[in-house]
Parts: sequence; C-alpha cells; structure tokens
Amino acid sequence: MNYSEKVMDHFMNPRNVGEIENASGVGQVGNMKCGDIMKVFLQIEDGRIVDAKFKTFGCGAAVATSSMATELVKGKTVEEALQVTNKAVMEALDGLPPVKVHCSCLAEEALHAALWDYAQKNNIVIDGLKPPVEDVEELHHHE
Ligand code: FES
Repeated sequence: MNYSEKVMDHFMNPRNVGEIENASGVGQVGNMKCGDIMKVFLQIEDGRIVDAKFKTFGCGAAVATSSMATELVKGKTVEEALQVTNKAVMEALDGLPPVKVHCSCLAEEALHAALWDYAQKNNIVIDGLKPPVEDVEELHHHE
C-alpha cells in the first residue's frame, strides 16, 4: 500500500495526541466494522477553537487523519471547523488509499461529535451540524 509522505509523517509523529481536561466539547465515535474508536477534545473560547486533541484505538490512517484534522481546526471558529471534512483532511495529507478512506470519516465524525457536545452544553445551534452517530459505518461515506 502506498501512503503519502504527509500521511507517514502524521502517523509517525502525530500532533495533538492526548486529552484536554475540562474540554469545552468531547466527542467519541467508533466504527463497528474495524472496531476502531476515536475521541476528540476541543477547547473553545469565544466561538473559536483554541486547542484540539485526540485519542484513538485506531489504525495508522485514523491516527494520521486525526492528527491533521486537529491541526486544521485549531484557530478556526466552530462554523469554519465544519469545513474540515474528511475530504479536506485527505487533501491536506495528499490522499489516502481508497480502502482507508473510511478511517478519515472517524476523525470527521469525532470532531463533529465534539462540536455537538459543545453546542449542547452551551445551548447554541451550529448551522449545518448534525447530531453525531455512534457508529460511522451507518453513514453514507462521503468519498
Ligand atoms: Fe478502522 Fe482505519 S481500519 S479506522
């Protein structure tokens, strides 16, 4: 299998691994098929993501995409963060092998789940944000 240099870099040296204590939003999703789990923590101040971290029982592609996704959302408003789709993450990583595309959905969905958690806690509505799913396999793949 061929992975881009960027994917290899984010897999070998993942950014933002860990937890945020008292995070503004926490989201966890899994993929029943491969059994992988992803948890994303967001620190949000004045509607802007000031920090993002993740923890995963996931494959290498899940690690690389979450590393990139958390990098991309930092500094963005919650609305802007919705533009960080699995497709955008894959583009930033110079692509993923087709059989690994679903792994990037884990990162996107965990991010959305964390934003949802933040919105619920603060009683706000984030335009375009859908309620999270527990199992990303239920989703239509946005390939
Ligand atoms: Fe499960 Fe990649 S194989 S997230």
